[in-house]
Amino acid sequence: MNAPPEPKPSRNRRDFQLAAEPTASTSSTAELPRRAVAAALVVGPMLWLGARAQAVSARTLTPSQTEGPFYPVRLPQDSDHDLLRNGRLDYRGGQATWLDGRVTDAAGKPLAGAQVEIWQCDENGHYHHPGDGDRADAAFQGFGRVIVGADGTYRFRTIRPVPYTGRTPHIHVKVRLGARELLTTQLYVAGEAGNARDFLWQRLSPAAREAVTVPFERRQDGWQARFPITVAA
Ligand SMILES: [Fe+2]
Repeated sequence: MNAPPEPKPSRNRRDFQLAAEPTASTSSTAELPRRAVAAALVVGPMLWLGARAQAVSARTLTPSQTEGPFYPVRLPQDSDHDLLRNGRLDYRGGQATWLDGRVTDAAGKPLAGAQVEIWQCDENGHYHHPGDGDRADAAFQGFGRVIVGADGTYRFRTIRPVPYTGRTPHIHVKVRLGARELLTTQLYVAGEAGNARDFLWQRLSPAAREAVTVPFERRQDGWQARFPITVAA
């Protein structure tokens, strides 16, 4: 397939940020002698800041990447978590994969009610999209959407992504909360030789690459990949 190159990703503030998890001060001055209290009034804030700095847990927001040209023009009638079954058709191509993870905010709190969408090409590198000739296998759903529950977890059944012209294997991911679009990114397979040659993967910093490149592990019922998603909510 000769897919048009995906446009350069936008560089917005969500691309790659660090967020701090606030911690509460637990010190009490109730039992201190007066002079010590006076000293603590001066030194205390410095100590508190020092302790806070040590306790800060920096959470990396999942970096954004371009949406690419193949987000569905019309969502498929069947757009549930199982991309290997489209309506009444079972897709037997590719390598079956469970993809799961948890959606949290910068403080680590699960983002209940968030919608996670994925879309990707079939085992022959074709998308359900007129820009790709609508050539994707009819049995491959190609797109899925789930709403996460109170624990923030999501789960999809799909195929291990495959390369196509100019791109290393990837799965497109979008997160929404109500009408707000919180994140659009792409997920990569750790250890794929094509990653280092991929023009979008190359543009990521080492830390950002780590955040969107996850291991695919062999299991009895196929592959398993876990992609934790952290968004600024
Ligand atoms: Fe793509």
